[in-house]
Amino acid sequence: EMAEKNGYEHYMLKEIHEQPDALRRVLANRVSTQGVNLDEIGLTAEELKKYSQIQVVACGTAYYSGMVGKYIIEELARIPVKVDVASEFRYSNPIIDKDTLVIVVSQSGETADTLAGLRLAREKGAEVLALTNVVGSTIAREADRVLYLKAGPEIAVASTKAYLTMVSVFYLLAVQFAKIKGTINDDEYMGLVSDLIRLPELASETIKVSEEKAKEKARYFIDYDNSFYIGRNFDYTIALEGALKLKEISYLHAEAYPAGELKHGPLALIEEGIPVVAVVTRRSLYDKMLSNIKEVKARGANITAVAIAGDAEVEKAVDDVIFIPECNEFFSGLLAVIPLQLLAYYTAVGRGFDVDQPRNLAKSVTVE
Ligand code: G6P
Repeated sequence: EMAEKNGYEHYMLKEIHEQPDALRRVLANRVSTQGVNLDEIGLTAEELKKYSQIQVVACGTAYYSGMVGKYIIEELARIPVKVDVASEFRYSNPIIDKDTLVIVVSQSGETADTLAGLRLAREKGAEVLALTNVVGSTIAREADRVLYLKAGPEIAVASTKAYLTMVSVFYLLAVQFAKIKGTINDDEYMGLVSDLIRLPELASETIKVSEEKAKEKARYFIDYDNSFYIGRNFDYTIALEGALKLKEISYLHAEAYPAGELKHGPLALIEEGIPVVAVVTRRSLYDKMLSNIKEVKARGANITAVAIAGDAEVEKAVDDVIFIPECNEFFSGLLAVIPLQLLAYYTAVGRGFDVDQPRNLAKSVTVE
């Protein structure tokens, strides 16, 4: 088994370190200096243009990847995107029709609720595009079109590399839709394309510069039953995924909140020493985040920021900062999740839990 883990103590750590390679595979032949190429799904520009809305259906980590997708697609391509957890979607009599593109996201391709959501969408006449990691899985077979994630086998229950590939596919779709709809110009398009190409290398750099710091900070988290993860816009979705990782494997309660919403409730829970993780990568919301950070700091929270390299201002305002490399702000969120995966991993290891097989959870949930 140690051989399968390639010298790593756990599959989860191995899979975190495999992320640059997973990104290389998911992007290969789909993006080059020529641009994004998604011909494999066989949708013409005309067909794409007819979609008036996109509906994402998924569970768990896959659901959070869809939330990143929503922010990116709406911002770049200006197509409204709704994201629902499959177990809600399937019982909600959703408003979808032939002009809706339904994107179901599932690492395993077998999650029962997601599969039921797919079937419901098809019954209602919508086109279903599946993003899945498992070739020939039920979801892959039943969807109208498939984009494979190519993350390679993921063994640890807590998903890491599959999540990164899911988000990358949403980036590809967003950039492609934006190009077709004409919501970005050629220069913007080529700028996004060249940053997409750099993603694997940036992910590798992120692991290098953040791992020690995340490991060190994990020692602090071990002693606290509760923590908060905050962010705005897609940094908020990264906070959600970071908090989920901590819950799944370290059995500590972590709650993610949109930073601007803190004052409508959770601020009452902030007390001396409580760990708060602030994801601060969106430049346009920088000042707003900084004031939220000060708001919790003033109430005694211990703040760890995940920020862009060289951000001296945030560094001054928080207790610890984990830097990620500078890049196009559309892609920084993806990098920001990596230190949060590492923080959760080292916290769980420090608490002595079975990181790869957390209690009560299963890798693939094929029952309702
Ligand atoms: C389970 C796993 C999660 C996963 C979710 C959805 O809860 O423990 O890690 O995100 O199912 O799985 P899927 O295979 O559909 O992506």
